[in-house]
This record gives sequence, C-alpha cells and structure tokens, in this order.
Amino acid sequence: MKIAVCGKGGSGKSTISALLARAMAARGHNVLVVDLDESNYGLHRQLGMEAPADFIGYFGGKEAATKKIVEYYQDRTKEPFDMKWSIATLPSGYVVVKCGIRLLSIGKIHDFGEGCACTMGSLSELLFKNLVLDENDVVIADTEAGVEHLGRGIEAGFDHIMVVVDPSYESLRLSRKIEAMVGNNGAKVHFVLNKMDEEIQKLVLGWFEGKSVAAVIPEDRGLFRATLEGRELDMEIPAIRCLADSLY
Ligand SMILES: Nc1ncnc2c1ncn2[C@@H]1O[C@H](COP(=O)(O)OP(=O)(O)OP(=O)(O)O)[C@@H](O)[C@H]1O
Ligand SMILES: [Mg+2]
Repeated sequence: MKIAVCGKGGSGKSTISALLARAMAARGHNVLVVDLDESNYGLHRQLGMEAPADFIGYFGGKEAATKKIVEYYQDRTKEPFDMKWSIATLPSGYVVVKCGIRLLSIGKIHDFGEGCACTMGSLSELLFKNLVLDENDVVIADTEAGVEHLGRGIEAGFDHIMVVVDPSYESLRLSRKIEAMVGNNGAKVHFVLNKMDEEIQKLVLGWFEGKSVAAVIPEDRGLFRATLEGRELDMEIPAIRCLADSLY
C-alpha cells in the first residue's frame, strides 16, 4: 500500500505521517516513510530517529543524478537507475530503522545558489516506480507543501492520498484543488481534518459533505509541544488509530 500525505504548509503533514507510521507499524506492517520534503528537517525527530543521508547521494550526488535524469528526459528508453528495490533491499546507508519503521529521505537543499529541487522530484518518481511492495508493506510519503509533487505525477500508482486540512481558508481551497488534480488517477482521496476544536470542526465539516473524511484530529497541546522540542511523537491519538484500522 502506498499512501501520500499532502496539503498546505504547516497543516500537519509530517505530524500525521509520523503518527500514521507508528500506528501501521503497531499493526505489524512493514513501514517505509519517505521524506519528500527538500526543505524541512523535522520528520526524523518526530519519528525519534537520526536523519538519514540524502538518497540522492546513492546516485553520486545532485550533479551526477541531474545529468542522468536530463539524459532520461531526452530519451525515455534510457532508464537512469534501472534497479528494482523492495523495502528491505533499499541501500542500507540511506535508510534509518527503528521499531519496524524505516525512514528514507530523497534529499535536502543544503547550499545557497545550489539550484532547484527538480532532481529530487524526478528521483522520487523513479523510486516509487521501482519499488516493489509485498502485501504487508506500507509506504508513507510525506510530501512538501503544495501541489508540485502532484503536478509531477509522483503519486502515480499510489493507493491513498491523505489531504491534511488545517482550519484555514487556504487549506480548504487547496484540499479541493488536490482532489481535482488526483481526479481519476487511481488513488482514493481522503481528508484528514487537523487542529480542530468542536466549534471549528462543525464549520469545516460543512466543506466536506459527501466526501471521505478519514479522521478528525483535535488541536493537541502534547503533539505541539513534542514537535517544538524535537521529540518523538510517541503518544496515542485515537483518531489516528481508527485511520490506520480503516485502511486495511
Ligand atoms: N493536531 C495538532 N495539534 C496541535 N499542533 C499540531 C497538530 N498537528 C500539527 N501540529 C503542529 O503544527 C505545526 C506544523 O506541523 P507539521 O510540521 O507536521 O506540518 P507540515 O504540514 O508537515 O509542515 P510543512 O509544510 O512545513 O512541512 C507543528 O508545530 C506541529 O506540532
Ligand atoms: Mg512537513
């Protein structure tokens, strides 16, 4: 099963990714979390892990990977990295493992003037294309804010798109846009309403009548505080447990 977690900046994508990964691992699934966000550095801390080395390093670094990918775009028969992986055979130097969860990070932008993140986007696309999953495997892709990854079609072949919605107009609008972009491309779109209180929840639910609201997650001081302190999110959130149950 491949799940992409997407939505507006700061809506709680990484938080939900980390919590869902724990819930899935607790159910005995073999979980791979893929950090697709080239800018943020918090996900590994939310999982209580060290940061993995950038996966782009496996391909010789950004310059070498870019060269191969440009050649591929000029001639699509030239697969730049024509290997198949399973979760277990991903290059171990680029994967951090803890309690049944593996974390892989495509790559971060490190230096002023180093250029765009397009190579990371292309690598992500190729990784998912070449990742062969078993019945019990769950991939959770924590995406960068916005819709560029959808524009690239990185989620082709995914089963579920979790759209994390916080209580803001921008987030509500973006959730509609994402739903339209996914359209009939195979994945089921779910909405995860995050940072809700009772009053706001009623207002927000009005936007999602007839749609698949997979979870409503309350504003949680403990979650907020743990993230602020860079601590592992090891708390039980009942709505996340139900979300994990609903996916199998
Ligand atoms: N249910 C919640 N209750 C309280 N705070 C929350 C909740 N969910 C997320 N947060 C807080 O919101 C902030 C943003 O969360 P997070 O980093 O997960 O968002 P994101 O969508 O991944 O952001 P980015 O777009 O920057 O990657 C963090 O401070 C986090 O602790
Ligand atoms: Mg994030």
